[in-house]
Amino acid sequence: MPTRNEHDNILPLLERLERALDGIEWEVVFVDDDSPDGTADLIRSISRKNPRVRCIQRIGRRGLSSACIEGILSSAAPFAAVLDADLQHDERLLPRMLEVIKADNLDVVVGSRFCAGGSLGEWAKSRRKISNLAKRLARFLVRDELTDPMSGFFVIRRTAFVKSVRRLSGRGFKILLDIFASSPEPLRFKELPYRFRERHSGESKLDTIVALEYVNLLLDKTFGRFVPVRFILFALVGGSGVLVHMAALAAAFTILPFTSAKLLASIVAMTSNFVLNNLLTYRDVRLKGAALVRGLFTFYVICGIGAAADVGVASILFHQQGASWWLSGLAGVLVGSVWNYGMANVFTWRGSRA
Ligand code: GDD
Ligand code: MN
Repeated sequence: MPTRNEHDNILPLLERLERALDGIEWEVVFVDDDSPDGTADLIRSISRKNPRVRCIQRIGRRGLSSACIEGILSSAAPFAAVLDADLQHDERLLPRMLEVIKADNLDVVVGSRFCAGGSLGEWAKSRRKISNLAKRLARFLVRDELTDPMSGFFVIRRTAFVKSVRRLSGRGFKILLDIFASSPEPLRFKELPYRFRERHSGESKLDTIVALEYVNLLLDKTFGRFVPVRFILFALVGGSGVLVHMAALAAAFTILPFTSAKLLASIVAMTSNFVLNNLLTYRDVRLKGAALVRGLFTFYVICGIGAAADVGVASILFHQQGASWWLSGLAGVLVGSVWNYGMANVFTWRGSRA
């Protein structure tokens, strides 16, 4: 069970697990990302008396999917269940899930909100819509007829998990989708309906950024074999920088001479690229406070050199090699952006190499 600020849910959850799993051999591993509300301390105080309960506390790392992966790896159980710690997933379904996965010799049994008999409970209309869109996007990755590919509630056979574990992207929230998209062979699965309950206490960590992490997962699973997703995001941000540049230039040129307006537009675009990269491309190692300012200045220097390399390469190709204007231009952009990306990885967002 992944946890982030679930202190008040732990005791009611354990009570329910004890009841639901009566007669089954089980243990529960909480993977807590250093919740400030003391979730990990509470779990450890329970573990002292109850050896079924364990806690992995991760420091300086975040992420639901990677938490689930590490939790499953830390256990020796032949079957693992993943479920949220806020009581939204119906733990009473677990014995039935285990029974079905064994009896039908399956790899995965998924708790579904959308197959006949399942339900979403009280979900805001907007979130329903987003969830539907995400589901449609998922179809590009996973062709299996899953009614609920976004589910965070499932039981998996260890042998099946181990087959895909090294290929998992581990990014974002959608661990089940990740597993389906990473498995070297089609997974044998079944879905069982359940009603998605209200969160017991605390609030959801699913925000707009989670949607971006989802896009990140989709990109990684589609193109990650060929180019790092970070580079794709870096290039997309760079593309947005061109638009910002042109808009800033148009505005500045109304009051400044052209060269100064152009210089200002470059600075605006670099700053906007820096901010977006910090929020999206390098979200996992994002800079804050003084490091943010330091990062911004290294980024200006790097992009400055990148621009010089771009112009240099383009003019050599154009003047000395007789290449066409567009090929020379494009080659320059490519060299410049690979330089910017490589150097930003090393000097601006240093943690990204880990
Ligand atoms: N370790 C760790 N790290 N746990 C996290 C993190 C994190 O960064 N973010 C969230 N969690 C934990 C929460 O504490 C909770 O136990 C669980 O992951 C789900 O987070 P919620 O914030 O409650 O998500 P949700 O209810 O909106 O969505 C969940 O249910 C959906 C339906 O099954 C998620 O599991 C979705 O992926 C899923 O689609
Ligand atoms: Mn939840």
